[in-house]
Amino acid sequence: MSNRTFTMIKPDAVKNGHAGAIIDRFIKEGFRIVSLKLTKLSAEKAGEFYAVHKERPFYGELVDFMSSGPIYAAILEKENAVAGFRELIGATNPAQAAEGTIRKLYATSLGENAVHGSDSDENAKIEGDFFFSGLEQF
Ligand code: CMP
Repeated sequence: MSNRTFTMIKPDAVKNGHAGAIIDRFIKEGFRIVSLKLTKLSAEKAGEFYAVHKERPFYGELVDFMSSGPIYAAILEKENAVAGFRELIGATNPAQAAEGTIRKLYATSLGENAVHGSDSDENAKIEGDFFFSGLEQF
C-alpha cells in the first residue's frame, strides 16, 4: 500500500475563496504536503487528465469546468492516504457527503465538487506524475 495520494482543489473552491481553509484542513488531518502548485488546465490537458471518463455523458461539462479557472494540484502523504483522503473529502455528490467532510462544507454540486481525490494507489502515482516532475516531489 502506498502512502501518497493526489488531489486538486477545483475551480469552484478556488473562485469561492476556500483554498486556504481546504489546505489547512489537509494539514490538520495529518497529511504532509509532498508537492503543491497553483495552475490552470487547458481544455486539452483537462481532457487528458479525465480521459477515463471520455464516454460518460458529463465528460464535456467536466472538461469545461476543470479548465474554467485556476486550481491547486497537490500530492499528499499519510499512512493509508488514498482511503483516508477519500473519507476526508466525502461522497462525490455533496448532497450525499457526510457532515464535516470537505465536499459537504465547500462543494457546490456534483459537477463542481470542490476537490478531487485519487481512487487507487496506481492512479495517485499517475495523477501526481501528470502535474509534478520527480524533482518537484519531496
Ligand atoms: P472527480 O472525483 O474529480 O472525478 C470525476 C468527476 O466527474 C467527479 O469528481 C465529478 O466532479 C464529476 N462527475 C461525476 N458524475 C458527474 C455527473 N453526473 N455530472 C457531472 N459531473 C460529474
